[in-house]
Amino acid sequence: MLTEEQKRQLIREALEAREHSYSPYSKYRVGAALLAEDGRIFQGCNIENAAYTPTNCAERTAVFKAVSEGCRVFSAIAVVGGKEEKPTGEYAYPCGVCRQVLREFVEPSAFVVICARSEEDYREFTLDELLPESFGPAQLKD
Ligand code: THU
Repeated sequence: MLTEEQKRQLIREALEAREHSYSPYSKYRVGAALLAEDGRIFQGCNIENAAYTPTNCAERTAVFKAVSEGCRVFSAIAVVGGKEEKPTGEYAYPCGVCRQVLREFVEPSAFVVICARSEEDYREFTLDELLPESFGPAQLKD
């Protein structure tokens, strides 16, 4: 269970990460903050590319940063995003690829996804709700 303060901090860090968004093509700026079970928070932003397909989403940036630093146990992620020119934010939901990448490392019914417009205004899901009947590492076990 996340406390209200933990959720607010995650959202704050996702907003901070969004400041680093490199999105000159879509102008859709996304930030994510991934909470590890040991308390560490990994920030990520979307990173676009002139060739388009190499673009990396904010959520995956956060996951890849964490895993590449040896951290693989996570409890929650906050995601914020929207077109840069829009004054009022919308909820940004993780794309299908990011849901699947998260699923690799978490128990879907226990992992919390917070889609926020501000520290006070957010929607909360489990990964299981966003990616039901998912395919994961257990399927490949002998
Ligand atoms: N994007 C994310 O960063 N996360 C998502 O889950 C959805 C999409 C980014 C990718 C691209 O830079 C921009 O948003 C528009 O698709």
